[in-house]
Amino acid sequence: MAVQVVLSGSGLWTPDFSISNEELVDSYNAYAKKHNEEHASEIERGEIQAKPLSSADFVEKASGIKSRYIYQKEGVLDINRMRPIIPERADDELSQQAEIAVLAANKALKAAGKKADQIDAVIVSCAYTQRSYPAIAIEVQEALGIEGFGFDMLVACSAATFGMHRGYEMIKAGTANAVLVINPELVSPQVNYKDRDSHFIFGDVATAVVLENEETVNSDNAYNILSTKAFTKFSNNIRSNHGYMNRAHDNDPYAADKLFHQEGRKVFKDVCPLAAEHIKEHLLSHDLTPNDLTRWWLHQANINMNTLISKRLLGRDASKKEAPIVLDTYANTASAGSVIAFNLNNKDLQSGDYGILCSFGAGYSIGSLLVQKR
Ligand code: COA
Repeated sequence: MAVQVVLSGSGLWTPDFSISNEELVDSYNAYAKKHNEEHASEIERGEIQAKPLSSADFVEKASGIKSRYIYQKEGVLDINRMRPIIPERADDELSQQAEIAVLAANKALKAAGKKADQIDAVIVSCAYTQRSYPAIAIEVQEALGIEGFGFDMLVACSAATFGMHRGYEMIKAGTANAVLVINPELVSPQVNYKDRDSHFIFGDVATAVVLENEETVNSDNAYNILSTKAFTKFSNNIRSNHGYMNRAHDNDPYAADKLFHQEGRKVFKDVCPLAAEHIKEHLLSHDLTPNDLTRWWLHQANINMNTLISKRLLGRDASKKEAPIVLDTYANTASAGSVIAFNLNNKDLQSGDYGILCSFGAGYSIGSLLVQKR
């Protein structure tokens, strides 16, 4: 008999600190003015361009973001620093990313009614890991006391959905009965707070889900995963050149191209139709149409993208209830956005209701899971 894989619980860890658009823009503008004053003669001679000012109104209208959570606020708004201050931890201390992964994982375990000894595998899947090895997932496995195995995955914006795909396949194949998939998106160290185009985009968060064989489910708020669908197509429009090769390049390892940068307009234009078509095809493979979905837990990069995608498929605007937005308070949290939307907006669905989790972004990558409330 075919194995039914169930999403039986999710967890969300939210940092204590947040930064509003106004705070962020005030700091950027003070930095830009200082930069322009200090480089007035080069700017006058046309050798460099003056830094234009940012605007909180623009940020909210262009993206839907009003505020973002941050792991460590100190340092980010200091115009002489413009990056968080996060002290390095010793090898025998829990790493920052493992720490927030554990906090989200414990909430997911509780929601699923599972103990650590019932989990067989840990997947840590996110946009960046803070070191190459040992895997953050193995550190989390040790911290939680889980027997079995763990590994890290990097798939940028689609890390959470692609991580769930791997968990789903492991349970289908019988190599694991229950899998923790965790997304510790500690992205603020990679944000270029000196760049007007992208300084406002990201926030930090950690999310986690428990996936398990239906035979062991005891959560009364659980979803059957009906199927998964993945798509990738290479694009340079969202890129970070940070990596282990930096040391050999003899260039500035913290130059702008080593941080998150993108061609936002192009991304918007390329990804919206790809994501809409992807969702349509995924639904069609189950003889479903967009109107059959009760909930859309979409990737959270830009409110206008989500509006466009759901409108293209439904022929009308999706309501806030149908396609919840968490961007206003969380901003873009790399791969975790659709899981945050799921975590905060899934308890009211009725048995038999369909929903879709879908990520889209860097790679390009698109990942979806079609689920049905049990
Ligand atoms: N404050 C004020 N004005 C700004 C600004 C800021 N912070 N940043 C850009 N602008 C200006 C631009 O200079 C431009 O001015 P111009 O028309 O005089 O040239 C104008 O606003 C529009 O800029 P543009 O970059 O075209 O904005 P946009 O409407 O495309 O919005 C994004 C920018 C990034 C919010 C949007 O493109 C986006 O979200 N794209 C999708 C990105 C995505 O999903 N990425 C995945 C990341 S994981």
